[in-house]
Amino acid sequence: MAATRGRPGASATAKEPAEAAPAPVAAPAKREPAEGAPAPVAAPAKREPAEGAPAPVAAPAKEEPAEAAPAPVAAPAKREPPRTMRDLRLATESRRRAAAPKPMENPLREGLRLERVPDPAAFVLFGATGDLAHRKVIPALFQLWRTHLLPHEFTIVAVGRRPYTDEAFRSEIKESLDAFSRVQPVDQETWDDLASRIVYHQGDFADNGTYQRLSERLEQLDETCGTRGNRIFYLATQPSAFAEIVAGLGRVGLDHERRDGGWRRVVIEKPFGHDLDSAVVLNREVGKVFRERQVYRIDHYLGKETVRNLLVFRFGNGIFEPIWNRRHIDHVQITVAESIGIEGRGAFYEETGASRDFLQNHLLQLLSLVAMEPPATFEADALRDEKVKVIRAIPEMTREQVAHDVVRGQYGPGWVSAKPVKGYREEPSVNPASETETYVAARLTIDDWRWSGVPFYLRMGKRLPKRATEIAIQFKEVPHQLFKDSASDPEPNLLAMRIQPDEGIMLRFGAKVPGLGVDVRNVTMDFTYGSAFSVDSPDAYETLILDALLGDASLFTRADEVEEAWSIVDPIIEAWSEQTVPDFPNYEAGTWGPEAADDLLAREGRRWRRI
Ligand SMILES: NC(=O)c1ccc[n+]([C@@H]2O[C@H](COP(=O)([O-])OP(=O)(O)OC[C@H]3O[C@@H](n4cnc5c(N)ncnc54)[C@H](OP(=O)(O)O)[C@@H]3O)[C@@H](O)[C@H]2O)c1
Repeated sequence: MAATRGRPGASATAKEPAEAAPAPVAAPAKREPAEGAPAPVAAPAKREPAEGAPAPVAAPAKEEPAEAAPAPVAAPAKREPPRTMRDLRLATESRRRAAAPKPMENPLREGLRLERVPDPAAFVLFGATGDLAHRKVIPALFQLWRTHLLPHEFTIVAVGRRPYTDEAFRSEIKESLDAFSRVQPVDQETWDDLASRIVYHQGDFADNGTYQRLSERLEQLDETCGTRGNRIFYLATQPSAFAEIVAGLGRVGLDHERRDGGWRRVVIEKPFGHDLDSAVVLNREVGKVFRERQVYRIDHYLGKETVRNLLVFRFGNGIFEPIWNRRHIDHVQITVAESIGIEGRGAFYEETGASRDFLQNHLLQLLSLVAMEPPATFEADALRDEKVKVIRAIPEMTREQVAHDVVRGQYGPGWVSAKPVKGYREEPSVNPASETETYVAARLTIDDWRWSGVPFYLRMGKRLPKRATEIAIQFKEVPHQLFKDSASDPEPNLLAMRIQPDEGIMLRFGAKVPGLGVDVRNVTMDFTYGSAFSVDSPDAYETLILDALLGDASLFTRADEVEEAWSIVDPIIEAWSEQTVPDFPNYEAGTWGPEAADDLLAREGRRWRRI
């Protein structure tokens, strides 16, 4: 029986008593824009309809009562007096609801997707001149704006160290949009509309004045743009700056939610910590300023459409859950393959490696979604409670187990997509004798009733033959082979969930080959998002930014989850530091990783699925 992990100093679970929700804010009185403030923008009549928004549905035809037949009049239902406290509460609530005035319909919003438009808000982007902001965050905001999913009263405050005028910053962002927006070409009118809402705020994170001036500027923007005191702080900066920025915000009170409305949230990029100790310290520093419910730790994998669909697949259908356990599943494989190398981020990768960059977050997050118990509700904490239970049930590895069950690799020179590529050690800013792993594969188990004895094989690698992320559920063989005379040996059922590319789900099963005799072959049933729905899936950043603006933290990682995940990865990294490093490089770029990773499965009579 594996030892239970003890985590001294780890944060308590992030559950908090629900706080009084901020009081609803009255619509801002019409104000004249202050000089230099972003120009007021006309009603968004010209924007394109929300992509993927359901087509307006015709009202159901009214059933006509049979002619002349007097409509039966139901006797008024006799109201039972409330018998329990719950009945009493429900009765009071329904009376209160009935008495409340109905909100006025806005005719300009008719036909638009209304249910997911967030409150007016200021989006404060720290690290706005950086790579992530340009490639992902601002293109995601543009896409949300283009598809009417952002409120009209919205402003982006870009915080950066270099001097820019608002105009100069906007034109630089436009260039990035032209390169990275997922819908091309970028519509000029829509861009002008959003650009008028972007302001640049120069300041160094280490300077107190940055936050003081930011606070004053946000107050002004509340006045001129109607952002109503709602602010989201997005930290797209190097991780070493997270605690400093959070403390700076706290010093000037930018974390305080106001009684008369005005929420404050902080989105923190990954990696969250470098190991368990640093994650605990960072959680503590963030917790000194923000409450857990204000903190959104991002792992962009969770925003991917197929990952979200995994929950619908498991819990929105009746037929899979009964077989989702050790009785029917032989093992699970989770693969994140990248064909790219480290893309000029040598200094970052040297400090991180595949286990910190992928195993601690993306791979363990995918595993927890596959293995979790059904939550009682779809609320953020219910979901995260179940995910964290899974990670807690993974036994901590001993040094011997690490040597036996975890494989690390580093790519050497090779060929990817018919082009020669350098080895990791020849990449810029990489130590020519580097011992950093660019590949990791691990065999983990989950010690609970559902999964006991079912291995979960996880692997991640850079410079593999192709880019693909997949979860494969391998079912057990049938208990008795009936079709022994079949020419081919049918393989057991397999369910493959493709996270990227070609998002979809494939089920493999045996079918009879047409003709005389009984020959059984593998066939597949395939569902692909692209062909089933004929819409592009949103980028993960679009989903997650929108969720954070809506206050939905389900797809963000909670403090205790991050720490539990580190407590799986820390012993692996510690064990490696004491073991002899494999003979790096131990796999050629463009191959599926080191041989030892194949042996990890082969010794149990299994093999990695060919993707
Ligand atoms: N890039 C990606 O593909 C990617 C993917 C997933 C997660 N992430 C995470 O996202 C975060 C940002 O990554 P990145 O690649 O965008 O980093 P980056 O390109 O180095 O950007 C860092 C940003 O922070 C600013 N900055 C640094 N120190 C500052 C200071 N003292 N005062 C004011 N501004 C300062 C930089 O401003 P200057 O321009 O003035 O230096 C720059 O805008 C990291 O946590 C990373 O792990 C990145």
